[in-house]
Amino acid sequence: MANPLADKYADRIQKHMSKYPDKRSAVMPLLYIAQEEYGWLSPDAIVQVAEICEMDPTQVKSIAGFYTMYRESPKGKYWLQVCTDLPCALKGADQFHHDLLAHLGIEEGGTTDDGMFTVEHVMCLAACDRAPMLQCNFGYVENLDMDKMKELLDKWRKEAEAYANAD
Ligand code: FES
Repeated sequence: MANPLADKYADRIQKHMSKYPDKRSAVMPLLYIAQEEYGWLSPDAIVQVAEICEMDPTQVKSIAGFYTMYRESPKGKYWLQVCTDLPCALKGADQFHHDLLAHLGIEEGGTTDDGMFTVEHVMCLAACDRAPMLQCNFGYVENLDMDKMKELLDKWRKEAEAYANAD
């Protein structure tokens, strides 16, 4: 069966594989490569990683499901995970989350029509003293209010546009 990941990323995959005594130990970095390629870990991406690592796809899927940094469904270009756990809620995170959804015109867990932003609420991200805060893809944004958030949304939209035009 064709395996586009194995073909396209042969060098990177080999580099990861060389660090471990067996292929299966490289499964997590390979899942990141798959996520980078497809934007999320689709069933096909899971099968490809499983083939490369000589694992059962069910095992790979269970690893992907255990760690919150892996995307198990399609997300927007910017995946905004807002902490609404108790300490953050006490500093206004629930209202912030509500206002952000209303501003973007989406429901919790939804993605904007232009595919730019997905908003989900999550439990503690260990930045309780800097609430309201969120994780945008792999980075933290802290001490937020809606004015700052709107500026950031504009900035990210412009960055995405500039990146798309550079192709
Ligand atoms: S409760 Fe939100 S970061 Fe800890």
